Amino acid sequence: MKTIIEPFRIKTVEPIRLTTREERESLIREAGYNVVFLRAEDVIIDLLTDSGTGAMSAEGWAALMRGDESYAGARSWYVFESTVQEIFGFQHVIPTHQGRAAERLLCNTLVKPGMVVPSNTHFDTGRANIQFIGGLTPDFPSSEASDLSSEAAFKGNMNLDKLEKLIEEVGVEKIPYIILTATDNSGGGQPVSMANIREVSKLARYHHIPLYIDSCRFAENAYFIKQRENGYSQMSIKKIVSEMFSYADGCIMSAKKDGFANIGGFLCTRDGELAKQLKNLCILTEGFPTYGGLAGRDLEAIAVGLREVLDEDYLSYRIGTNAYLVDKLVKNGVPMLQPAGGHAIFIDGRKFLPHIPPLQYPALSIVVELYIEAGIRSGEIGTVFFGKNEGGVEKPGKYDLIRLAIPRRVYTQNHLNYVVEAITNVWERRNTLRGMKIIEEAPFLRHFTARFDYL
Ligand code: F0G
Repeated sequence: MKTIIEPFRIKTVEPIRLTTREERESLIREAGYNVVFLRAEDVIIDLLTDSGTGAMSAEGWAALMRGDESYAGARSWYVFESTVQEIFGFQHVIPTHQGRAAERLLCNTLVKPGMVVPSNTHFDTGRANIQFIGGLTPDFPSSEASDLSSEAAFKGNMNLDKLEKLIEEVGVEKIPYIILTATDNSGGGQPVSMANIREVSKLARYHHIPLYIDSCRFAENAYFIKQRENGYSQMSIKKIVSEMFSYADGCIMSAKKDGFANIGGFLCTRDGELAKQLKNLCILTEGFPTYGGLAGRDLEAIAVGLREVLDEDYLSYRIGTNAYLVDKLVKNGVPMLQPAGGHAIFIDGRKFLPHIPPLQYPALSIVVELYIEAGIRSGEIGTVFFGKNEGGVEKPGKYDLIRLAIPRRVYTQNHLNYVVEAITNVWERRNTLRGMKIIEEAPFLRHFTARFDYL
């Protein structure tokens, strides 16, 4: 059969309020044309993020009832710890309330001002945490990544030559660890190949630099390896995951993505001495290291989610859905980032609206129009997001993309057909879209605070 079906039945539903176009025009105006200021109940299809927005299974909900809420040594902790150890293969596991807390524990323990943490592409929270303590965060994406429409299989790979050059230039003592983000969220949800993980690891081990994987979407990455890399088509996802992490010294994880949980994360390492320091810091800010800021029931739900996400029928539906969306949109002429990412699809805003220059925020104009057209909430990853206002001089971002992140197991195929129709409608009247301007903005992370208007 060619038709992709959702490999689950729906037991509980959450009604969606269907707004009218007139309502949405006034709601988005009141929100200062920034979708983060909309009330979620005024959104019809919410594609702002795939983080913490997934649907739990009947097993996941049942696990909540098994939560042991003891302060120390709860049964739920041991369920969680042994599941993470079994899947990821690291001895030391430290729970955290979400991914960025794991990032903070790691960098506060290892990074000193002036040190350099290279990555294929840092995610913004990891980057901000390192920069906050005075570290540098260069990105070394593969050369294929810059061609948004090339069909290369592993556009999330790290550029090894650049990594080697950095090690030569700054010296190993200045590099506390390397972060490999798999899949590469900021690079379009693109996967990292097993060969690349192996090569980065070889280089890192040769120089005794620890390698950590930012593993929020580890199962999606493993599925891409199974589909696209020689030698893996017959291997189970669990085995592929084991091999991926065998090359690393630890990982940081947001369980809000491939953990199917609404909250939670963890940090793993093989280094016992480091684990002691991380646990001390965890006690200070997250909680005792057998709960790390999470309820016992959260630990149980994450343990269930981490096993469920390894299911191949689920992953085939998940990755297939995004490919289906990109395929339909490309056929309709819409310029898309290709191939489809694991957790999101991206529209190329600059190609979509060549008449609007980057400093008039073409991607934002599309985000606003998609909300007005169909109540869809997406995210601007472009000049508003990246562009800095340094000394009053505004710089365009590298790209102007619109991210439509797909929550896990939440929307049906028909919801996604609705998204295709909405994007196509906006594409067909693209010449009528206008540029935007900033009315007010904060000095940093302005995409969360700015208010806009039409030019
Ligand atoms: N690393 C990656 C690759 C991420 O995508 C995220 C979150 C984090 C770390 C931080 O995890 O949110 O649990 O603290 N990404 C979300 C997104 C916010 O929308 O892409 P967190």
